[in-house]
Amino acid sequence: MRVLDRGDQLRKELDAARAGGATVGLVPTMGALHEGHASLIRRSAAECDVTAVTVFVNPLQFSPAEDLDEYPADLAGDVELASACGAGVVFAPPVEEMYPGGTSVVTVHVAGPPGAGLEAVTRPGHFDGVTTVVAKLFNLAGPCRAYFGEKDAQQLAVVRRLVADLSFPVEVVSCPTVREPDGLALSSRNARLSPAERAAATVLHRALLTGSTAVTAGRCDPSYEPAHVAALMAAAVAAEPLATLDYAEAVDAATMEPLTALTGDVRLVVAARLGKVRLIDNLSVKA
Ligand code: PAJ
Repeated sequence: MRVLDRGDQLRKELDAARAGGATVGLVPTMGALHEGHASLIRRSAAECDVTAVTVFVNPLQFSPAEDLDEYPADLAGDVELASACGAGVVFAPPVEEMYPGGTSVVTVHVAGPPGAGLEAVTRPGHFDGVTTVVAKLFNLAGPCRAYFGEKDAQQLAVVRRLVADLSFPVEVVSCPTVREPDGLALSSRNARLSPAERAAATVLHRALLTGSTAVTAGRCDPSYEPAHVAALMAAAVAAEPLATLDYAEAVDAATMEPLTALTGDVRLVVAARLGKVRLIDNLSVKA
């Protein structure tokens, strides 16, 4: 396992791998790795000759009001998990390495769908931060496959759009959401839930299952509208006293825009707060 903290080292390492005929898989993360991240790393290790995991808590994608300083860090644990899952390289740069002077004058701006609506409403500028750091990581890593989780469905759609619009020589691979046995999607934020909030947090997945059942049941009825499904999911979240709904929608998987009819690839999305912790989840349904 090679643990690197400089961009030029990463580029040299991966250029050398490619020169030797190896394929490179990239798994961008913010660390505090759990089984969700592990599934991405294992998939990359199965499909690529060399897997590089990046561990970088990107300040550009956090607003001043968000939890940047509280973001958990455990590089030793991350390196151990990445290695056990088959990664050959961990790139964990300090902020100064990625943003000399602490910031980036030039950024990638996401001007519309799929980076408008949903997360972008609650977290203005978030996706600009994500696309800026992902573009940097792609440039440092070079041609590769890059692995992203469906857990962050809007981020996945935005990254696909980034790659298409800016012609990155990268193949984006999406990986299914890893869940706890009770349905809660794994997230580093789950550790900040109180026991009561943790129990209540299953409401996101339950709301999505309610929505999914409604889509399936209404499949043959053309008058059955996405708004009905959204309302059912919102009601499911409202029924949980510890949860505060942010949004519940049935959207198009590629544009992340609300659907006008339940056809094609429907993505049900939900976001809610449990105390101070904001959680998101989603489910794909074929209509
Ligand atoms: P982070 O939240 O650390 O997530 C890294 C990757 O792991 C993302 O692609 C995310 O979708 C995936 N992931 C997280 N939880 C998952 C789960 N339960 N099942 C499957 N995959 C899961 O997302 C980011 O970091 C950052 O925005 C980043 C892309 C690294 C840019 O800074």
